[in-house]
Amino acid sequence: MSSEPLIEVRDLYKSFPVYDKPHHRLFQMLSRHKRQRWYREFEALRGIDFCIERGETVGIVGRNGSGKSTLLQIICGTLAPSRGEVQVRGRVAALLELGAGFNPEFTGRENVFMNGTVLGLTHAAIADRLEEILAFANIGDFIDRPVKTYSSGMYVRLAFAVAIHVEPDLLVVDEALSVGDEAFQRKCFARIERLRQSGCTILFVSHAASTVIELCDRAILLDGGEMLADGTPKAVISRYQRMLYAPEDRVQELREQMRREKNLPRQVEEPVAQDASPAVAEEAVIDASMTAHAAYMDAYFDEHLRSDNELTYTSQGARIEDPHIMTMAGKRVNVLNAGERYIYAYAVQFVRGVPCVRFGMLIKTLTGVELAGAVSARTEQTIIWVEQGAQFKVSFEFDCRLAPGAYFMNAGVQGRVGEEETYLDRRIDALMFKVMPRTDRLSTGFIDLVDSVKIRLSGMKERSVENDG
Ligand SMILES: Nc1ncnc2c1ncn2[C@@H]1O[C@H](COP(=O)(O)OP(=O)(O)OP(=O)(O)O)[C@@H](O)[C@H]1O
Ligand SMILES: [Mg+2]
Repeated sequence: MSSEPLIEVRDLYKSFPVYDKPHHRLFQMLSRHKRQRWYREFEALRGIDFCIERGETVGIVGRNGSGKSTLLQIICGTLAPSRGEVQVRGRVAALLELGAGFNPEFTGRENVFMNGTVLGLTHAAIADRLEEILAFANIGDFIDRPVKTYSSGMYVRLAFAVAIHVEPDLLVVDEALSVGDEAFQRKCFARIERLRQSGCTILFVSHAASTVIELCDRAILLDGGEMLADGTPKAVISRYQRMLYAPEDRVQELREQMRREKNLPRQVEEPVAQDASPAVAEEAVIDASMTAHAAYMDAYFDEHLRSDNELTYTSQGARIEDPHIMTMAGKRVNVLNAGERYIYAYAVQFVRGVPCVRFGMLIKTLTGVELAGAVSARTEQTIIWVEQGAQFKVSFEFDCRLAPGAYFMNAGVQGRVGEEETYLDRRIDALMFKVMPRTDRLSTGFIDLVDSVKIRLSGMKERSVENDG
């Protein structure tokens, strides 16, 4: 595979003619004098310069009209630059803003073949994949009706199905997915994740900060046709949000500030933005090494992370073994991402027969606050009798709605000894885990329960801030 960047954009400019009056367009067409202009030039992109390596997933963010779609169209070759150079070395599958891509007069099926052919696939290769494409799009009989009769959701379903089945080197997605329903979006994001893992380069426009942070390795901020930041998603999103929520009279000042510090670090995150809540800012100072990995890493296992104050009790007939946390895919981890789902599991060996058995877990903070616990059954629903020699695997699924920091897990097995329910085995602080910081979360405190905050300045439109990780 070539080591040259997949995309090279050099000093790119794009201007559109803007006619102040509709009839000026006609005058221009009829004008014999080349010098006479009936339009002004509007610069939608100015001096854009960047490279994207193979395998990168890059999010493009920016306010409405900042030039994102224009940039993507130029990269996809559906729009020509006014000046500068753009090179793309590979097969590009694109989901641009609605309207691009399919011929409305042809049926979905015909469009699949036309689209695939344009992307360089043979008729036979498309026929081979047709079934999978249709299954993914799941638009039923509409596949044999003209695309002009499709709803925007159907259109996107089919366009996305084609895009992911042509084995692109570059997948370009411009907001399009926000049209599909939630279930379809989730399916698409799962496919994007798979494409990403298989080494496909992905360019992605989104207004959803959390999507960019979760999905991308890198982000680029456009504003007024200018590239104002290029760096880790978290750093870029924090600038984008500052731009988004800035009063109009501060925008210019912000732009100038961002111009001065345009090239943000690609690997190491900046400290948390000053406008973050004090609780989060404090965390970042305490554990700067964790901040460096924040927001774009998968959960992982850090072997240095061990609970060194584990307290075990004398076994009363059962033994808890191998407490651990796994991702839903079964990978052992102890550095977790907030907002994701995990499994806490352990094994239990019974050294003798015991009545009324149940299993439990508890999450505690560094200072010992009991945050959340669960038992496998209510008192009246315990396992009536467990034989000597029996082995159990116990697992608790949980949503990691925790603030960044370190936590401890307990494990316990209870059963009846004599007349009383008692611990057959108990491991306090059996394991330690950490939750990585995410500055896109807005909640403070230990538990993340608040999903959105609405603020309203008297006389202005309501603004809603999503905490949607
Ligand atoms: N064909 C055109 N003729 C004239 N102006 C255009 C044309 N296409 C885009 N523009 C202008 O260029 C600027 C950038 O548009 P673009 O569609 O790239 O923005 P965007 O960042 O994708 O915005 P959004 O978030 O709303 O999708 C806008 O001011 C837009 O009005
Ligand atoms: Mg756009």
